[in-house]
Amino acid sequence: MTINKLLVVIIIIFIKFGGCEKVFKSVPVVFKIYENESVLLPCYIQDNETVARVKWYKNNRLLGDTLDQHTLLPSRMYMHRNYSLQIDSLRAHDTADYTCEVIRPEPLGPIKQSHSIEVQCSPSVRTIPEEGFLEVRKGEYVDIGCEASGTPKPTIEWRKNGEAMALLEHRSRIRFRAEHRLLAGVYECIADNSVGDPVKAAIRVIIQDAPVVSAVRTFVHTAIGLRAALQARLDFAAPPAKTAWFRDGRPVKTDDRIIIMGHENSHQLIFRTVRKSDLGNYTFRAENKLGMADVSFKLTGVPNVASFKVDPSLNKATSTSFTLIWEVDSYSTIIEYNLWIRPYYGSRSPIDPDSVSTVGPAYFWSKIVVPGDSIDGPIHSASYTVRGLTPSTVYEATVTSRNRFGWSKTSAVLHFATEPGVGRTLPVTIDYADITPTLEEPESEQPENITQAHVFERLNEMPMSDSGAREKLNVIVISFLICSIIWLS
Ligand SMILES: *[C@@H]1O[C@H](CO)[C@@H](O)[C@H](O)[C@H]1NC(C)=O
Ligand SMILES: *[C@@H]1O[C@H](CO)[C@@H](O)[C@H](O)[C@H]1NC(C)=O
Ligand SMILES: *[C@@H]1O[C@H](CO)[C@@H](O)[C@H](O)[C@H]1NC(C)=O
Ligand SMILES: *[C@@H]1O[C@H](CO)[C@@H](O)[C@H](O)[C@H]1NC(C)=O
Ligand SMILES: *[C@@H]1O[C@H](CO)[C@@H](O)[C@H](O)[C@H]1NC(C)=O
Repeated sequence: MTINKLLVVIIIIFIKFGGCEKVFKSVPVVFKIYENESVLLPCYIQDNETVARVKWYKNNRLLGDTLDQHTLLPSRMYMHRNYSLQIDSLRAHDTADYTCEVIRPEPLGPIKQSHSIEVQCSPSVRTIPEEGFLEVRKGEYVDIGCEASGTPKPTIEWRKNGEAMALLEHRSRIRFRAEHRLLAGVYECIADNSVGDPVKAAIRVIIQDAPVVSAVRTFVHTAIGLRAALQARLDFAAPPAKTAWFRDGRPVKTDDRIIIMGHENSHQLIFRTVRKSDLGNYTFRAENKLGMADVSFKLTGVPNVASFKVDPSLNKATSTSFTLIWEVDSYSTIIEYNLWIRPYYGSRSPIDPDSVSTVGPAYFWSKIVVPGDSIDGPIHSASYTVRGLTPSTVYEATVTSRNRFGWSKTSAVLHFATEPGVGRTLPVTIDYADITPTLEEPESEQPENITQAHVFERLNEMPMSDSGAREKLNVIVISFLICSIIWLS
């Protein structure tokens, strides 16, 4: 076994010169060597020097002495005749500074040379907390970490829910305020020191907060005798929430016909066969010790919101007429439609006060009553040709539908244009050539000059839009929080 073969990785660093260069032929060395291998630490002295005695120290603790054979060199260690110290089967705890002290005859003083051994060890990590799990209340601090050992010292990278965290430094400790439940997740650290494979450890962080609920459809159209289901989602519940369905503030009484079902995050209130008395307002509520959340539903027989069809081959336009086509879902016969029409001026309120007088009453909506059909549904289609329109003019239209349960909400607004023709045009010039019928989302404000207020009764306040805005805000809050994460040094 040759010594050269034993030295696998040797990086020579001159630690210090200390005036010994005349005595020692060898130089101080840092040995970076893998576990189980051997190393030879030189203590090579100039031939013209007289050596009385040599001692080896490990971090200043005596290991061996040439004049005292009884100073027991630990097992795996051997001092050669040329004073080199050989260490076999290196262990992690052999990482240390080793000093050879040469004692010369009086009056010359002793001189020393030191080497370092770094036994290369693949990394290992210990999480903080050790169980890899941390649950805090919203507003409290999350304090997690990964203590990595290994030689050389491993660097630590962090991931949250599988995504790299853009941290400026390789921190072993992360501390931040649990401002939002979305800061919860699996935080994973990866320790790497290029010796062996990187190792990973994960800490699952749970942030307790009031529950969050949502629903896709809160306005549920039905009819007597049909099956109907109200569906709520429990988007978040830590700690777990108690859930319940209410009608007019009282818990819903369940029986063979009205059933509550809950599976994972999905919660349903099912009516096997709807009775007239079932129609009404319902609330799904989730509650834990940190708060509660609810989402309201309306189980109703009134028609769903109608939608205009945009199809040039069917929307026949002339200079004075236009054919509107729409569809509506209703399990019951539609008794009548109200079609609301008015010229379109590009905005709800003309900015130029003069134009108000010019436009006059034409600004207001005109109502056209269109008879319903005798079909049971569920899909009803209707068309109506509006006559007596002004040529080259853009109009807007909206429609409501009534069945025996009442009026639906207003549809989205349709914009359409009449063809050019001879005759008077309105004193507003619009490049009508570009106007194809287009649908606009319903406006939150009600159309002016509609006296039958109940037609536009807001039956269906969608909490969804609210929560959508909340989520957006959350994203902003979280971006801010991530930017302001506080680190422990
Ligand atoms: C060193 O030897 C021990 C026991 O023989 C073994 O368990 C360990 O994996 C070895 N280490 C390396 C880095 O080969
Ligand atoms: C030994 O030789 C070196 C040069 O080779 C010299 O610098 C040193 O002083 C000598 N030491 C003694 C004790 O003569
Ligand atoms: C010291 O002795 C060992 C064993 O005989 C040998 O392998 C090594 O090369 C020697 N070192 C020097 C610096 O002469
Ligand atoms: C249902 O709730 C709406 C408000 O969301 C309310 O105007 C209406 O009167 C309620 N209906 C019943 C039957 O309580
Ligand atoms: C509503 O509009 C009509 C014309 O379509 C008009 O005769 C009526 O006075 C308006 N009502 C109100 C309250 O403005």
